[in-house]
Amino acid sequence: MNILVTGGTGFIGSHTCVELLNAGHDVMVLDNLCNSDAAVIGRIEQICGRKPRFVEGDIRDAALLQDLFAEYPVSAVMHFAGIKAVGESVEKPKKYYQNNVEGTSVLLAAMVQADIRTIVFSSSATVYGEPASVPITEDFPRSATNPYGDTKLKIEDMLAELQRTTPGWRIARLRYFNPVGAHKSGLIGESPAGVPDNLMPFITQAAAGLRDELRVFGSDYETPDGTGVRDYIHVVDLANGHIAALNYLRRNPQMLTVNLGTGKGVSVLEMIKTFETVNHCKVPYRITNRRPGDIAKCWADTRLANRLLAWKADRSLADMCRDAWRWQQAQTPPP
Ligand code: NAD
Ligand code: UD1
Repeated sequence: MNILVTGGTGFIGSHTCVELLNAGHDVMVLDNLCNSDAAVIGRIEQICGRKPRFVEGDIRDAALLQDLFAEYPVSAVMHFAGIKAVGESVEKPKKYYQNNVEGTSVLLAAMVQADIRTIVFSSSATVYGEPASVPITEDFPRSATNPYGDTKLKIEDMLAELQRTTPGWRIARLRYFNPVGAHKSGLIGESPAGVPDNLMPFITQAAAGLRDELRVFGSDYETPDGTGVRDYIHVVDLANGHIAALNYLRRNPQMLTVNLGTGKGVSVLEMIKTFETVNHCKVPYRITNRRPGDIAKCWADTRLANRLLAWKADRSLADMCRDAWRWQQAQTPPP
């Protein structure tokens, strides 16, 4: 198939491009590079021996999309393009609404015009807000705790509305838990701009000596060791979940909503310990206060994805730590 990957030079998009190319698909990347680098395209080629086409541009540019769909026979869209910093979304909610929600609306309108009716969308476990219990199944109530989360709710609703009102759409809403790790080649990975908000990039930077210490946000949660528990999933497993979703949509013209996680909860301290053990290094850390807005625990019930997609995340926490560290070291080679 010819797949348009929006946000394809980003963290999850780039790993998915690799898996799509490896599965024999042709790939066109559309990215405005607001949070990524065009050099990623060459790195994807180094891994796969094949290069995706690349268009630098914005999903909000209707004329560009129209030209692109006229020139290139796209059969499905994987839609990763979006901005995702929770803190910034609280300060600049309009920016998030315009980029993520309006951007998706422009993309969908262009798809309708070009008669392309298959889309795989990057949703998030953030749509579950503060879940009443764990593990989380797809029918849990949805709510947003910040504007970023609200954009995911609005896009999920927009897709559901499209499915209800327009025949023939094949839609996957994939709710990711906590993607971490990197490709085993060390050629692509996560490159957060500035100080990382998320745990794994902070751990790798602290271990590399780029940050003084990791602050562990709270040790008084109702969890076995008191630190926050999350469902970390290796980004390559997540990427393969997208291929499985695409295959499912080819067989089933409907809307699919599934969790993509491992189904296992891991605490902050467990993550630090595993990282130190498998990589033979130290992660300097200090326990501090809770981060406002954080929840105690969040992990997925993955049975629906396992059953419908015949897919399972099988890379271990050790694999995630090893691959993230290899990527970090490739960014900061020793002097
Ligand atoms: P990322 O920032 O690495 O990748 C997103 C890409 O989209 C970037 O390359 C960026 O330049 C591009 N982009 C942003 N706005 C654009 C626009 N208007 N037009 C064209 N390109 C644009 O982030 P990621 O971690 O790879 O996330 C991909 C998607 O998955 C996002 O939608 C994100 O909200 C969602 N998601 C991510 C996580 C996570 O923890 N990383 C969790 C759940 C959901
Ligand atoms: C955060 C976002 C969520 C988003 C997800 C993936 C918030 C409140 N939530 O989720 O919307 O979908 O990232 O991008 O920002 N931790 C530390 N020290 C750190 C960083 C994190 O102790 O420096 C802890 C956190 O308290 C948490 C765990 O590590 O218990 C994971 O944090 P993080 O990677 O930020 O992910 P989430 O909080 O799950």
